[in-house]
Amino acid sequence: MNVFTTAAALHAWSVAQKRDGHTVALVPTMGYLHEGHLSFIREARRHCSKVAVSIFVNPTQFAPNEDYDAYPHKEEDDIALCEAEGADAVFLPQPAEMYPEDASTWVEETVLSKGYCGAQRPIHFRGVCTVVAKLFNIAAPDVAVFGQKDFQQVAVIRRMVRDLNFPIQIIRAPIIRDEDGLAKSSRNTYLSPDARKAALSLSKALFAAKAAVEAGERDAATLEAMIRTTTTAEGWIPDYVNVVDSETLMPLKTVHPGNAAILLACRREGLRLIDNVLL
Ligand code: PAJ
Repeated sequence: MNVFTTAAALHAWSVAQKRDGHTVALVPTMGYLHEGHLSFIREARRHCSKVAVSIFVNPTQFAPNEDYDAYPHKEEDDIALCEAEGADAVFLPQPAEMYPEDASTWVEETVLSKGYCGAQRPIHFRGVCTVVAKLFNIAAPDVAVFGQKDFQQVAVIRRMVRDLNFPIQIIRAPIIRDEDGLAKSSRNTYLSPDARKAALSLSKALFAAKAAVEAGERDAATLEAMIRTTTTAEGWIPDYVNVVDSETLMPLKTVHPGNAAILLACRREGLRLIDNVLL
């Protein structure tokens, strides 16, 4: 497995693979890899003959009051995990490699990125789009894999890819959960034992709402109220709970199973978790 630290080296590798008749998939991550990320390497392999994983904690998607400096790292382990999963290349750039000191260009999606997490984190998706566009230009992949866990992120990236004509297929891979249902996240390491237990209420509430839809419930406000009650009872304060159209992210009043999702973000003890379910 190749480990690259410069954009030029990864780009040259990708071009060489394609010249040899391969297709290339990119799995963008911020490291501290868990089973969710690793499942993407296997998913990527189903689509392409070569798989590259990027590991870069992107400073531009964190606001000054967020956890950029505290974001967990374990690069050596991450490299070993990628190798064990059969990745062909890992890209591990330093911030200075990705952002010249006087960088002054941004990529901003201006509609889908504004609500939900974007409302709480106004510069977040501008940072995500900018770094992902850069990674696409550097790695020149045919396919890129993103997680349904960050539902809004995939919708924003799909819109960016369409609007800016990136010749890249975006795969939305399913949420990987702990056995008890909590969606895996690098940030779960911050949870106290109590908060970890209470965090179960997020997935429980979403699954209960999905079951209610399967039993015939169609009223979005009823489903949202159910979820708020369950999570609030466990000390999680909802930032947002919304039944949305799964492509446009527009809030729905009435559920149309097949192209709807429920998105939520909740806070407790200074921590914020997100989760969602497709209906
Ligand atoms: P990160 O949080 O490291 O996540 C990398 C990818 O893994 C994302 O596509 C995310 O949706 C996915 N992921 C995380 N937890 C998951 C889970 N439990 N199940 C399935 N997929 C999961 O998202 C980012 O990094 C960054 O914003 C990035 C796209 C790399 C740009 O900096």
